Amino acid sequence: MSTTTGATNRTTLPVVPDTDPSQFVLDSYKIAIAKIVGDALGLSVEQVYPGVAWGKKGVDFTVALPRFRLPGKVDELAKKVIASFEPNDYIASIEHDKAFLHFMCNTDNLNRDVLTQIHTLGADYGKNETGKGKKLVIEYSSPNIAKSFHVGHLRSTIIGAFLANLYKACGWEVVGLNYLGDWGTQFGLIAVGFEKYGSQEALEKDAIKHLFDVYVKINQDAEKDPQVRVDAAAWFRRMENFEPEALENWKVWRELSVKKYEEEYDRLNVHFDVYTGESAVKQESMDKALERLNEMGWNVDYLTRDIGGAIERYEKYKFDKMIYVVSAQQDLHLAQFFKVLELMEFPWAKDLLHINYGLVQGMSTRKGTVVFLNQIIEDATQIMHEQMQANEDKYKAVEDPEFTSREIGISGIKVQDMAAKRINNYTFSKERMFSFEGDTGPYLQYAHVRLASVGRKNPNLLPLPPPSEIATDHLSQYAQARDIVFLLGQYPDVVLTALKTHEPSGVVTYLFRLTHAVSSAWETVIVKGEPDVEKAKAKLFLFEQAKVVLNAGMQLLSLRPLDRM
Ligand code: ARG
Repeated sequence: MSTTTGATNRTTLPVVPDTDPSQFVLDSYKIAIAKIVGDALGLSVEQVYPGVAWGKKGVDFTVALPRFRLPGKVDELAKKVIASFEPNDYIASIEHDKAFLHFMCNTDNLNRDVLTQIHTLGADYGKNETGKGKKLVIEYSSPNIAKSFHVGHLRSTIIGAFLANLYKACGWEVVGLNYLGDWGTQFGLIAVGFEKYGSQEALEKDAIKHLFDVYVKINQDAEKDPQVRVDAAAWFRRMENFEPEALENWKVWRELSVKKYEEEYDRLNVHFDVYTGESAVKQESMDKALERLNEMGWNVDYLTRDIGGAIERYEKYKFDKMIYVVSAQQDLHLAQFFKVLELMEFPWAKDLLHINYGLVQGMSTRKGTVVFLNQIIEDATQIMHEQMQANEDKYKAVEDPEFTSREIGISGIKVQDMAAKRINNYTFSKERMFSFEGDTGPYLQYAHVRLASVGRKNPNLLPLPPPSEIATDHLSQYAQARDIVFLLGQYPDVVLTALKTHEPSGVVTYLFRLTHAVSSAWETVIVKGEPDVEKAKAKLFLFEQAKVVLNAGMQLLSLRPLDRM
């Protein structure tokens, strides 16, 4: 094993398929346990390995014996394993607890192996190649031009960005699509409205806002004057016939809206490969879909655009999987059009996945109900800015308070959104989301800043020597250090689990466990003032690797980890 520098003459371990100690060093410890149990009970390492689970409450790993369905009493089996047990380089102790066997790792080696691996892999720690050669198309955010950007779009943006990052981290090629609501009769209405209320200047300044304003005004007119809708319908018909003059303005509106959205997404650290939209689905594809639907006796023409769109996307991207990140309110719509594609016997229909999410209640900004994305961001920025200004000394030390408060505010919004299972509804709470206390985005940023500051505050220890020259054994006396290390070691598994569940909450929960473990170490695992330089270096090494993992996890969640605040 190349990553365990400093370890000499380790017990050799068997190779187990689908494990990779060079990326996930705790695999070695799991294999060591599988071998101990397997040898004692006459099972192969492969048979036991899947039964080696994370332990609870201070236990590293646990094996539930009944799962092997062996003849004889569980108690006897456990005694057999215990009788043959001898501590080795990986496993230090074993304990019998009813039908379970609990194992503790060798602390010296655990600390050294995990920290060295993180140091070696750096930002790649936790990533894997399970998706190598596979392509994901993921559609998310998908707001409607000239209409309001609501919290549903925000959730789709946040969850979608996380999933895109996650698949990339697992080796997939990812194509991120923003499927804009950029077509439909409302554009005829806006065209009529634009003649009356449009301003080129306002459009260029903020297309999203201006088009929305025009839309609201012309809708009011339409209430009073039926002719407005007649004119609008005529306009849209000309658009559908691809009359260049009718499309000219629409093109500009779309382009400027996309430009504005790109700026907002950029602030959110969210990026799309393609801005597509309802307008991009070809009539021909929809006609084909409609024909097939009629044959099947399904009178559901509102599905045709999505059906046609999916067919086009498959032809274009030949994806291995396509994800739609859309609110649970549209469950039925997605289930129906997936079903139709299946009935049409497209072999890739089984590779479509709807990732849904619940509602957000009570979202409002200082300007009232939320209409625009930039309103949400600015409101968060302001609230954080005011909070930071309350501490004058600290505030003066911040280099770019505007940027910093925005990043912390955005972290607050995102973490609140991803903290629970996607399907849960939640109530938007500014008090909670922007607080530095409790499990919040600002708290994660604060924890990262604190980790980043240890090196800065101890320049005499830097640069650290290579891991093989760091006396990590010094860490073994600190239970708090061990807790941190064991959590750090689990990170690659957290990533893999998220890929199965598509739940950002697993990552969020993990990062809070990690930051809490780090926070309880500050008072015992002290770097500044540690007289033994070797020891101080080992401690700094620990905190630096904790920072690497916290940083990676935050980036997976699309946060931008801060080094100062
Ligand atoms: N623009 C739609 C909305 O705001 C969401 C699009 C969902 N995607 C889809 N392929 N139907 O409700």
